[in-house]
Amino acid sequence: MPSIDLSNRRGLGNMAFVIEYTRGFFDAAYEQQIMGLYGRPVVGRRFEPIGSLRSRSIVDFVRCSYLGLDNHPAIVAGAIAAIRDYGSVHWSCARTRLNFGLLGDLEARLSAMFRARVIAFSTVMVANMGALPLIASGALTGGEKPLVAFDRLCHASLAHHKAVVAQETEIVTIAHNDVQALEELCRTRKQVAYVADGVYSMGGSAPIPALIDLQQRYGLFLYIDDAHGISLFGDKGEGYARSHFPDEIGSRTIIAASLGKGFGASGGILMMGTAEQEKLFRSHAQPYVFSAAPNLAAVGAGLASAALHDSGELSRLQSDLAARVSCFDDRIETRQRRTPLPIRMLSIGEEDAAIRAARRLLDRGFYTSATFFPTVARGKAGIRVCLTAAHSHAEIEELCQAIEDVVPGHDSALPTSATRSDAISPNRYVGDVPASLADRLSYADTEEWGA
Ligand SMILES: Cc1ncc(COP(=O)(O)O)c(C=O)c1O
Repeated sequence: MPSIDLSNRRGLGNMAFVIEYTRGFFDAAYEQQIMGLYGRPVVGRRFEPIGSLRSRSIVDFVRCSYLGLDNHPAIVAGAIAAIRDYGSVHWSCARTRLNFGLLGDLEARLSAMFRARVIAFSTVMVANMGALPLIASGALTGGEKPLVAFDRLCHASLAHHKAVVAQETEIVTIAHNDVQALEELCRTRKQVAYVADGVYSMGGSAPIPALIDLQQRYGLFLYIDDAHGISLFGDKGEGYARSHFPDEIGSRTIIAASLGKGFGASGGILMMGTAEQEKLFRSHAQPYVFSAAPNLAAVGAGLASAALHDSGELSRLQSDLAARVSCFDDRIETRQRRTPLPIRMLSIGEEDAAIRAARRLLDRGFYTSATFFPTVARGKAGIRVCLTAAHSHAEIEELCQAIEDVVPGHDSALPTSATRSDAISPNRYVGDVPASLADRLSYADTEEWGA
């Protein structure tokens, strides 16, 4: 293992490399029409693409609306009713000035359901943009700036902010789910904040119980982006991360989540534990102060979805999803098999092969995501399948048949994002870390960005 060069403190963005390396893959993917499709909904998970693929109804396994709520009539009606009632979609002012009353209603309702103080943003990426500099400032850790440790596979919407965080405090990138490395940091540093996904968009999840254990023993501050975990777990759909925590979230955890994936509306939220934190975010989170609020269609949809989450329909949808996931797992071997999450990755290897496989599946009537660098590691391309409660068993069986026919060589043992180990980093920032940790802190590798 190469040891870390601790003198390397330059912020070496690597976007130029990424563009150069991936341009051909994107060109091929667009040419094969497996990227950038436009379409209209048909029924259930089917859509009709616009353009040269027209006239074919395709079953979608790309969208992350895991409970199938994104076209639920009650949610659509909620959006329409909100706009009608207020006669407006958008008020052009920062949230520190004037807010739609319904936005306050949405935050209050989600706060009660998720047993946290909830602030809504227009997307999760925007919520992350607001939160990470505040964590770096030390304002959430008693005025003392923490060392901020990013999980190496954390989503692009987190990793993107490394430069800003590094301007404020020291940062390190640690190997995926490396609780031992994190514990060593906690032992040697007074304040450590860990930034990770709850459910990873390319498969797998954070070891939340082990992280809570570190928090209890060392005071580790946790920032968990559970964009993909919300709605799928918990009595009220509070999500993968939140449902691991006891009643009170406390003062050392903030959870981000999406209102636009499993939740079926639009936007992002932060769940936090204390009134002081809420006050801080409502006065100093940059997008809160300097950018617009979620629009009213999103708010109305969010309130309608909250009502569904507060009803018996949620647990029915959660079990429908579990049944669909197990239907897929009965036929197709993946590294995620028999885990309760709805994301499945077929490992293929070469990027071109993954693009061709996605096109063959599309020709059979199934739209899946070809995943390649920078979404996953170089040479570890594959196909992502997002299963939802709204797929019929027949659609899943037919997809499995198509996978067996046209992607027979996918290798469930081939690592995708979770265990990769090659290349160059788009985000090289190294803090002053103990030398004993050097071989476990990845800074000179290509980081995947998720999707
Ligand atoms: C962990 C994570 N966070 C954030 C996002 C982006 O969410 P949004 O589209 O609301 O910005 C994603 C995207 O899929 C994600 O996987």
